Amino acid sequence: MTLPKVKTPSDLTSEERREFFEKRGSPDTTPFKEKPGYKYLLQSEDIKSWVETQTLPIFLDIGAGMGRFLMAESEKHPDRSYVGIDPDYQCVKKNITKLDNRERRDVALKNCRFFYGSVYHFFEQLEPKSIDLAYVNYPDPWFKKRHIKRRLVTEKFFNTIHPLLKDHSKVFVQTDIDDYAEFILEEFENLKGFDINLKAIDQFEDLAGTLYQEKAVTKDHNRHCFLLQKQ
Ligand SMILES: C[S@@+](CC[C@H](N)C(=O)[O-])C[C@H]1O[C@@H](n2cnc3c(N)ncnc32)[C@H](O)[C@@H]1O
Repeated sequence: MTLPKVKTPSDLTSEERREFFEKRGSPDTTPFKEKPGYKYLLQSEDIKSWVETQTLPIFLDIGAGMGRFLMAESEKHPDRSYVGIDPDYQCVKKNITKLDNRERRDVALKNCRFFYGSVYHFFEQLEPKSIDLAYVNYPDPWFKKRHIKRRLVTEKFFNTIHPLLKDHSKVFVQTDIDDYAEFILEEFENLKGFDINLKAIDQFEDLAGTLYQEKAVTKDHNRHCFLLQKQ
């Protein structure tokens, strides 16, 4: 499988980088567009029909990164359909190549797909009540004040995902960044339609580890876990 080469943010000037982050993850700019037909990649226009044909519950890994968590969970639960979502082209490219290689070695993960793009573009393609569960593991912290608006876990994020979740479905969020955890608590202040459990760490303990979780452990960071359930 040959995939197009694209510039990474470090190849760009600061002006280009700003533009890159503004447009990142839009289906209009997907480098995959020119070469359709990657078996494990969900293209924007295929999401609706893919969701309609799923007989298994749909689980999302939002910001799947290098896919460690997603692939481990997909392997543990063949009775669920998983989608990893990420606007990082290199990550998605590596993940769909891994999935392709697994298939060639006869250890295919048939219940696992990737979507290249921002989760908001994925959400746009969904009908209400289509998602069974979502994970957001170690979202990018965006430490600088001027970058805080890029944070993913916001009241807007929960309000957008809310109608797309089936009744009583859960959203798992975890971060090792104390400041982000405080920010998330503030985002909860006016949030409606969810029961929020701040003491549900036991429910995270059976989950597969993520790459950033491993990094957090080596740095001796705190683990902040938030479990939301749609009312
Ligand atoms: C710090 S990494 C964590 C990766 C992985 N979840 C882990 O725990 O190892 C955050 C990931 O979120 C992705 N991300 C950033 N904005 C996103 C968005 N709007 N929608 C989906 N994923 C996003 C980034 O590209 C990055 O791969």
